Amino acid sequence: MKQYILVLILFFSFQAHNQQTDFLVKPYLQIGKTSSPHSMQVLWHATVSNDVWLAEYKNNGETDWKRSEGQYVSTIAVGTVAPFYVYRTSFTSLKPGTLFQYRVSKNGKIVFSAEAKTIRSSEQSYRIAISGDMGAGTGTAKKVAYEIYKAKPDMVAIAGDLVYNRGLLSEYRAKFWPVYNKDDADTLGAPLMRSIPFVASVGNHDALGRDLNAFPEALAYYYFWDQPLNGLNGKEGGAFVPTLVGTDVNKKAFYDAAGERYPRMTNFSFDQGNAHWTIIDSNPYVDWNDSTLRDWVAKDLAAAANATWRFVLFHHPGFNSSRTHYEHQQMRLIAPILEKGKVDIVFAGHVHNYQRSYPMTFIPDNMGSQLVAGANNIKTGKLVNGRWTLDKKFDGKQNTRPNGVIYIVTGAGGQGLYNPEQQNDTDSWQRFTIKFVSTVHSFTLMDVNGKELTIKQVDFNGKEVDRVKITK
Ligand SMILES: [Fe+2]
Repeated sequence: MKQYILVLILFFSFQAHNQQTDFLVKPYLQIGKTSSPHSMQVLWHATVSNDVWLAEYKNNGETDWKRSEGQYVSTIAVGTVAPFYVYRTSFTSLKPGTLFQYRVSKNGKIVFSAEAKTIRSSEQSYRIAISGDMGAGTGTAKKVAYEIYKAKPDMVAIAGDLVYNRGLLSEYRAKFWPVYNKDDADTLGAPLMRSIPFVASVGNHDALGRDLNAFPEALAYYYFWDQPLNGLNGKEGGAFVPTLVGTDVNKKAFYDAAGERYPRMTNFSFDQGNAHWTIIDSNPYVDWNDSTLRDWVAKDLAAAANATWRFVLFHHPGFNSSRTHYEHQQMRLIAPILEKGKVDIVFAGHVHNYQRSYPMTFIPDNMGSQLVAGANNIKTGKLVNGRWTLDKKFDGKQNTRPNGVIYIVTGAGGQGLYNPEQQNDTDSWQRFTIKFVSTVHSFTLMDVNGKELTIKQVDFNGKEVDRVKITK
């Protein structure tokens, strides 16, 4: 009997070990390069091998499994990391706003299965969790992930600084996948990414490091994320794509890993339900004097005139009351474009706390003054003065129709909090700020129901710290 139990234990531990070694990163969802409510992209990472992989899916209630469309493999062979494969394939016949099941097989054997949510079509209501500066791998980042999971959103939007400290491949392995694509849900993380899509803007920690000799694993954003490619493909050294530094070998390894996503995948847009989202690269290397990207933002918003809501996501907040990073104001420069494009809310991170502005408009005095730091005169941001107009009648309770854009800083997703001393020191806030929560980590939860939306700020223990209603 003892021997029999021992054999059983050995068998199951072998099986468990096998499960672990099938993936370097288990399957996770992305909206893909051509986002639609009928499609979803699934990616997974595995060691280099001749294994035959198959992904299948079915909509809730269907009995037959459908094969995914296409299967693309990129080889990631950068730095001293053992080369591995990133697989990506598409589910293309999903029913908007419903659940679907999917499974992944290796060499004919099912090695992963999950249930997931599709993107909503225009008339369906939905919930989105938004936070920035999440990928620090801290205890609070993990608790925030767990609270997001418990809130059951349909999508997570990250306002940049996806992984600390340099956007490296190995940092994703240490701080990102184990938290947001964990097998089970608890205060150490949750199986979020396998069941709902994450979208993201790039932050300074994801995109500023461009020296592939010093950090060959940098810019891992481009090989791990799979987001729409409907933005502009800028030129290296041009107005909004910095020059890449590195030997030909290091550059080739990066280009091979990044594929068509580099450098296009930092400015893009997509629709979720009745809302249009525009994602913008707010890093200080972007030259907003150049009209190319400005025009793209204006055209993108104009093309979304029929959407009920327009949301914008980027990393560096233009309107921020924190003493930390107060001077990183370059995104104020496009406030008039966002106003003309009838943007409802701008979500940003970078500043590790929560702030909400009055509905407001802003006219910059000029194109701002460049700030630089360090021996290499690295651009850190711009000071942009100007004139703002605040809608102080809007209270988000009785008066729910804002006149202007509401700017939300939601950068308290896990990295160390900024300026807790300012939370109750209202004199230290800029006049555009109405709410400032800097003593607790938190995330934004937005429920969109037709022409009404509710925004809640929820702390890492699940407690609500702000709430506002907006109607059309
Ligand atoms: Fe940042």
